[in-house]
Amino acid sequence: MFNIAVLPGDGIGAEIVPEAVKVLNAIGKKYGHSFRFTDGLIGGAAIDAVGVPLPEDTLKLCNESDAVLLGAIGGPKWDTLPVHLRPEAGALLPLRKALGLYANLRPAILYNALINASTLKREVIEGIDIMVIRELTGGLYFGEKKREKTPAGQSAVDTLVYSTEEIVRIARLGFEIAMKRKKILHSVDKANVLESSRLWRETVTELGKEYPEVELIHMYVDNCAMQLVRWPKQFDVIVTENMFGDILTDQASMLTGSIGMLPSASIGGNVGLYEPSHGSAPDIAGQKKANPLATILSAAMMIRYSFNLDREAEAIEDAVVRVLDLGYRTPDIMEDNGKPVNTEEMGDKVVEQIIG
Ligand code: IPM
Ligand code: MG
Repeated sequence: MFNIAVLPGDGIGAEIVPEAVKVLNAIGKKYGHSFRFTDGLIGGAAIDAVGVPLPEDTLKLCNESDAVLLGAIGGPKWDTLPVHLRPEAGALLPLRKALGLYANLRPAILYNALINASTLKREVIEGIDIMVIRELTGGLYFGEKKREKTPAGQSAVDTLVYSTEEIVRIARLGFEIAMKRKKILHSVDKANVLESSRLWRETVTELGKEYPEVELIHMYVDNCAMQLVRWPKQFDVIVTENMFGDILTDQASMLTGSIGMLPSASIGGNVGLYEPSHGSAPDIAGQKKANPLATILSAAMMIRYSFNLDREAEAIEDAVVRVLDLGYRTPDIMEDNGKPVNTEEMGDKVVEQIIG
C-alpha cells in the first residue's frame, strides 16, 4: 500500500490531477499495487478555505505520506496578497523546504509525434532527451531578503548563499544520474561574476574526481541559455543552482513543444513531491482544455523515484507515447489532422493503453 497526498491546488490543478489519479489506479489494478489517495488543500484554494496557503494539516498529511502529487498553485486572485500569503512564496517554496526537497529533476524529452509542435527546426530538436537537475532549497530564493527606505526611494536586497555541503549533495546526484545515462554532465554557473558560482565550480570540479568516467563540462548560464536553443543535442544532464535552473527549465521545456508535457520530481527528503512543470493556467481553468500529460508523467516519476516501480513507470510513459502516436491532442499540442480531446478524454486514452 502506497499512501499518496493529493494536492490539486488552483486553476487547472483540479482538472489535471484526477487524470493522474485515474492512471495510477489503472496501474495499481494491472500490476497489483494499491494506492491510497488523501486530498489536501494548498495555494489559493487553501487561502480561500482556511486563510493560509500552506495549512498545518497539509504539511502533516505530506509528511505522513509516501509521496505527494501536486497540481499547480497560484492565480491572479491571490497576486495582491502580502508575499507570505501568496501561493508561490507562502506555500510552494516552504513546502519544498519543509520536506527537504533539494533536488528538482525536470526531464525535457521530445516525443517524435510532437516534433512539429516545437517552434524550433526538426534537425535541431530531433531526439532530444535532457535531464535538468535544479537545486531547489538554496540560493537566491531562500536567502535573506530586505527592504529599506533610502533618501531617493527604497533599496531591496536578496541574498545568494550556497554552502559546500549544499553543492556537493546536488552535484553528486548530477554525477550519479549522468553515470546511468550518457556520462556527460554540464554544470551551469556564473563563475565569472558570482562568488557563490566560484564555490560551485570548485566544488563540482573536486567531486568530479570521484567520477572519472563522467565528462564534466562547466558552462556559464548565459552561454547555456544560448546553447540550449542553438544545439540542444549537446546536453544530456545539466546540474545547476536554483534560479538558473528555474529559468533554464522553462526554456528547455519549449524545445519539446509544450510545457504541458513536462513532468517534474522534487526529491532528496523522505517524501518526494511530483508536479507538472507548468503553472495553474488560470486563463484556461474550468474549460477542460488543459493537457494532463505532464501530471500523468509526474505520476510516472513518482512511482519510479519514490516507490521503485520502474516497470510500472515505463508502462505509463509508453502509454503516453502511444496515445500521442495515435494522434490524440489537447489544444496546446494540436496540429493538422490531430484528434482533439479534452482533459478527461486524454486521461481515458492513457488508461486504455495501460489496460490494453
Ligand atoms: C517553478 C516555479 C516556482 C519556482 C515558483 C512558482 C515559485 O516557477 O516551479 O519553476 O520558481 O520554483
Ligand atoms: Mg519556474
